[in-house]
Amino acid sequence: MKQIAVIGAGTMGNGIAHTFAQSGFQVSLIDVNEVALEKGLATIAKNLDRMLAKEHITEAEKSQTLGNITTYTSIETGVMNADLVVEAATERVDLKLNIFKQLDSLCEAKTILATNTSSISITQIAAATSRPEQVIGMHFMNPVPIMKLVEIIRGYNTSDAVTKTIMELSETLGKVPVEVNDYPGFVANRILMPMINESIETLYNGVAGVLEIDTVMKLGMAHPMGPLQLADFIGLDVCLSILNVMYDGFKNPKYAPCPLLVNMVQAGKLGVKSGEGFYDYSEHRKAEVVSKQFLK
Ligand SMILES: NC(=O)c1ccc[n+]([C@@H]2O[C@H](COP(=O)([O-])OP(=O)(O)OC[C@H]3O[C@@H](n4cnc5c(N)ncnc54)[C@H](O)[C@@H]3O)[C@@H](O)[C@H]2O)c1
Repeated sequence: MKQIAVIGAGTMGNGIAHTFAQSGFQVSLIDVNEVALEKGLATIAKNLDRMLAKEHITEAEKSQTLGNITTYTSIETGVMNADLVVEAATERVDLKLNIFKQLDSLCEAKTILATNTSSISITQIAAATSRPEQVIGMHFMNPVPIMKLVEIIRGYNTSDAVTKTIMELSETLGKVPVEVNDYPGFVANRILMPMINESIETLYNGVAGVLEIDTVMKLGMAHPMGPLQLADFIGLDVCLSILNVMYDGFKNPKYAPCPLLVNMVQAGKLGVKSGEGFYDYSEHRKAEVVSKQFLK
């Protein structure tokens, strides 16, 4: 495998492109939004600078990595000659089904189609193509260049050969792949999202404030980051959509999203990416708590 196409240059897409490019792959980074591509490239350069400052990479490795990435706004040109496509576009079923239908007609027969979806069924996405045995989940964690885990999700029809190829490829990237089956939330989010939702519910019920909840989990459970701050980093819209997928998939009220989460998403408070979630990330109020009003 040499040529990798990454669809979506947002939080995850730019990290995935960075990781493949740093391991010597040729990467086509594709986004419908030109500004997202510019921002994605700027983020990659900034993250490489940070690695350079810590002497984790050399100046030559930085420029090689950047030189391995080409950007495209057209999916048709971007996926040409790709051995593997990793889709990391917005978490919406209709959008992903549409992208995979297109990929199936644009890509060569040998091309493996992977998705970084956090929760949408791999089997459902694969069914939009004529090659379901070559469709697989490649669930990277945020921030991609740093986090070791890749959750490899086998759809109902994913072949053993494709699973083996993707497991080995993940190791080439310096990651630790873990193979799981395709059920709502897979493993990572099936366990993480109920915890985040319960933290929001705890805030909503006035049991404690944002800082108090995050401090209990950080100092009491040795979590590197509190669950509310983690939700801000993941994106509150992403958390809401994952919970909805699990709620619909299992028909179980324990996955029902907290009304406060729904309200915040509707109000455009999406966490770090919108500048405000449970904390305020604007320059003048860096990571300051904003949801004190819920502490009675
Ligand atoms: N944010 C996380 O922590 C996280 C972690 C693991 C997995 N994921 C998953 O990764 C995927 C991307 O999430 P994100 O947080 O990077 O989202 P994001 O909103 O930061 O970025 C999504 C990007 O996709 C682009 N896009 C939308 N439609 C497109 C299309 N048709 N073709 C090309 N580009 C298109 C958008 O312009 C945007 O730049 C989602 O499936 C999400 O569930 C997210």
